Amino acid sequence: MKPYEKLLTDNKAWVKEKLAQDPAFFANLAIEQTPEFLWIGCSDSRVPANEITNTAPGEMFVHRNIANMVVNTDLNVLSVVEYAVEALEVAHIIVCGHYGCGGVKAAIESQSLGIINKWLLNIKDIYFKHKEELSQIEDETKKVNRLVELNVIEQVSNLSKTFIVQNAWAKHQRPVLHGWVYSTSDGILHPLCRLDHSSPMDDIYKIKS
Ligand code: CO
Repeated sequence: MKPYEKLLTDNKAWVKEKLAQDPAFFANLAIEQTPEFLWIGCSDSRVPANEITNTAPGEMFVHRNIANMVVNTDLNVLSVVEYAVEALEVAHIIVCGHYGCGGVKAAIESQSLGIINKWLLNIKDIYFKHKEELSQIEDETKKVNRLVELNVIEQVSNLSKTFIVQNAWAKHQRPVLHGWVYSTSDGILHPLCRLDHSSPMDDIYKIKS
């Protein structure tokens, strides 16, 4: 059996297992989705959102890109955030990075990777902003991992600067924004930061509605 054929076979086994547990499983899911969470994570294959949080289909709206970024000119992520906040009315948005992130590492190492270099410029800007702290870390792995954490915190901050989130905060006092980091070596998720409608924000970033 070819590797991709195994995916299709395993899918059939999964359907059978789900139906054995709950004959209405797919019928109920087909009606609508009412996820409580939006997950913005890294595309890394080792960090599957549903699996590491033990959530089922329908429980989590998911967006993944290289290094879990919220870039304010990225129509893809902004469309996902808008739909999640305004249509699905999610209560929580989780930005989740992971230690040893290849995207963050590549940003530090300045490798030539084509179009990804443009994407990684956003992380270089975060490095530059926190250069004083990061330049004092000699161990390269520790430096990458600290930048992974700072990147998560900055992406949560980027979310708070969007009109989508500020508008929802003013009208509905939701969503709560969470910054987490996943440890690929032991599977544990670590909370790093949290922002909600009452969190202080510099005036320059406040959008008057
Ligand atoms: Co990554």
